[in-house]
Amino acid sequence: MANPSILILAGDGIGPEVMAEVKKIISWMGAKRGVHFDVSEDLVGGCAYDAHGKPLSDETMAKAQAVDAVLLGAVGGPKYDKLDFSVKPERGLLRLRKEMDLYSNLRPAQCFDALADFSSLKKEVVAGLDIVIVRELTSGVYFGEPRGIFKEGNERVGINTQRYTESEIVRVARSAFELARKRNNKVCSMEKANVMESGILWREVVQEVHDREYPDVQLTHMYADNGAMQLCRWPKQFDVIVTDNLFGDVLSDMAAMLTGSLGMLPSASLGSPMANGRPKALYEPVHGSAPDIMGQGKANPIACILSFAMALRYSFDLGEDATRVEKAVEKVLADGVRTADLMGPEGGKPVSTSQMGDAILAALDASL
Ligand code: IPM
Ligand code: MG
Repeated sequence: MANPSILILAGDGIGPEVMAEVKKIISWMGAKRGVHFDVSEDLVGGCAYDAHGKPLSDETMAKAQAVDAVLLGAVGGPKYDKLDFSVKPERGLLRLRKEMDLYSNLRPAQCFDALADFSSLKKEVVAGLDIVIVRELTSGVYFGEPRGIFKEGNERVGINTQRYTESEIVRVARSAFELARKRNNKVCSMEKANVMESGILWREVVQEVHDREYPDVQLTHMYADNGAMQLCRWPKQFDVIVTDNLFGDVLSDMAAMLTGSLGMLPSASLGSPMANGRPKALYEPVHGSAPDIMGQGKANPIACILSFAMALRYSFDLGEDATRVEKAVEKVLADGVRTADLMGPEGGKPVSTSQMGDAILAALDASL
């Protein structure tokens, strides 16, 4: 059988630096675990615009459709801020999500013990936190029509449309319930059914899917603003949160920060199964391209490495190796290895991006 295939789109800013550390782990998987991947690389975001005048070329899009998993670094940077909206780096990422139909975006927020002091919240609020936000990723206000900036009389009006079909809600709800069954069996669905019709439909459909197919899972509903408040007040009340594209964007940044650093959080964006049974999939860190620290060896590669661990689990059925990578990360953190973003007020000497990668590799070796 052919090796499983991976397309690496390292992107802009710190993307290539953190992805370099993932490549070391991919090689390690071949050398030490006998798992070989066919790896190809291409451009997305600002670097793709520089090369082709578009943030994602049709050729790259076709490659992404053909591989078993895409690993993405980050897109964007100040150099591209003035570009026309249609060719901004982010459009490349949004095109991948939309055309691969990656409707279920899993964003775990897990607080490693060694980092519980880094959160801006009290230690007891975040220690041991382990939740997942399932964000709908291919619809809602991000893609709804009509959209645009139009002239109305003698002023301009900006329009975006929040739109959800029943089937779009059904499929992301199923993915949240399935995930909950593998965890603590609890789903909280968030919307604004008090002000939005799309929220009323969201709530009804999630409840119907629950009653029909997942009555064993504990389901609650919350307005998204209350959800934000509850996430800061007592995040451990949650297990799986399912929500729409825009609320999921906001709530996941907030959940990420509960864990101490945005540099720690991975994500998986999953679609329907392909002919080989694997889901269409893209894995990326939740953090952005961090242009302020690019090229300085300061970036934390952990979010990108943990995204690869999610790929091992969700695309390649290598749950054991995924856990091995996660444990290696936990080990280096417990040993006090810290990149600059993880330096507490007590200071100390941070390690570089590649030193962090090497420490994780050493922990992986020790795990064999
Ligand atoms: C994210 C990001 C993206 C989004 C941007 C880069 C388009 O914030 O993945 O959360 O808004 O979805
Ligand atoms: Mg975001």
